[in-house]
Amino acid sequence: MLGDFTYCNPTKLYFGKDALGGLNEELPKYGRNVLLVYGGGSVKKNGVYDKVREILKANGKRVFEDAGVMPNPTTEKLKEGVERARAAKADLILAVGGGSVCDYAKAVSVSVHCEEDPWEKYYIRFEEPSCEIVPVGCVLTMAGTGSEMNGGSVITNHAQKLKIGHVFGEEVFPKFSVLNPEFTFTVPRYQMISGIYDIMSHILEQYFSGTDDNTSDYIMEGMLRSFIHSADAAAENPLDYEARSNIMRTATWALNTFVAKGKTTDWEVHMLGQAVAAHTDATHGMTLAAVSLPYYRHILPYAPEKFKKYAVNVWNVNPAGKSDQEAAEEGLAAMENWMKKLGLVMRISELGATEEMIDGIVKSTLVMQGGYKVLTEDEIRAILKESL
Ligand code: NZQ
Ligand code: ZN
Repeated sequence: MLGDFTYCNPTKLYFGKDALGGLNEELPKYGRNVLLVYGGGSVKKNGVYDKVREILKANGKRVFEDAGVMPNPTTEKLKEGVERARAAKADLILAVGGGSVCDYAKAVSVSVHCEEDPWEKYYIRFEEPSCEIVPVGCVLTMAGTGSEMNGGSVITNHAQKLKIGHVFGEEVFPKFSVLNPEFTFTVPRYQMISGIYDIMSHILEQYFSGTDDNTSDYIMEGMLRSFIHSADAAAENPLDYEARSNIMRTATWALNTFVAKGKTTDWEVHMLGQAVAAHTDATHGMTLAAVSLPYYRHILPYAPEKFKKYAVNVWNVNPAGKSDQEAAEEGLAAMENWMKKLGLVMRISELGATEEMIDGIVKSTLVMQGGYKVLTEDEIRAILKESL
């Protein structure tokens, strides 16, 4: 049965080739001091940085920079960002980059006026912010995480071997996000397909939960069909605007809280992938790809009907004369072929994980309650070994 829910998404989206012009509408709403946050330099190479700086200048902003946000942003970098934002007396944090930059900007935004240790408060105790939050805006350059229209913020603590996401409430969502699919043209192929699998995993982890006849599941099947088609087209021709725009749009709607409303969700693949990343610092989407099939094959017997529905409605498996289990397995086999063809990493050993690391990765894996089987420690170990 469709569960009760309230829904509000406060992020204003500017989408398309002229989306950056949206900054001219947004910037006047905030004070003069802007903390411009970006990553390792891709935005300088592809020209997005210069375009943003120009618009900031035209709007009379005083710009302070916080560069060098790494993929899988760390607690150390967060500390640095908080100091910079405080020194700048930032009225707005403008994130220009991928999910890591957007996530990091949100983490800084809730920490600038917080007197406690943000890692302990938000990522260990999962408390909500009780201080003033500095507004965040995003100019997204890579499709994948959905961070541009949600409250998610994932931070890695290497000392503790933990990579943890806090899903903050609406007050932490970006106030606005600029999405120009052309900005994603320069994303290296490895990152592009990693982002593609991240999007797929976001949809699947909301889909593979619950047994009710829920509208969200139908929406997600449609999203998957369109998305697989666009992913293939982008893999063939990375400069295919239509494919890249469909991917960018799907990424946002896959994780802007819309499809999760009124239904249960799983998220165990993300917990496994994040634990792998905590030990290897591997690329997010690839960690998900490498653990997904062992996980799905493990939980399939607990929900053969749903896996059959996925096989038939997404992978065009003909169910005639087959048991639910058989049709479901055929669906996962089709998915596996597609993943391999795309070039996704299918083994965590390729990401640097070793047999000796498995116990540590098991300890770093959070156990979720919403999937078809709540995993025991032994099951987590078995899935990780299967993924090696
Ligand atoms: O650092 P730069 O030089 O900018 O290069 C980045 C980085 O090396 C590069 N890149 C981004 N846009 C580019 C580009 N290179 C060339 N041209 C462009 N246009 O791509 C690399 C990866 O960037 P990153 O931001 O790390 O990728 P992604 O968007 O996949 O973000 C991953 C982070 O988001 C978290 C992940 O855990 C990970 O830490 N997630 C956030 C979520 C959320 N907020 O809801 C949910 C997700 O499940 C995910 O966990
Ligand atoms: Zn993800």
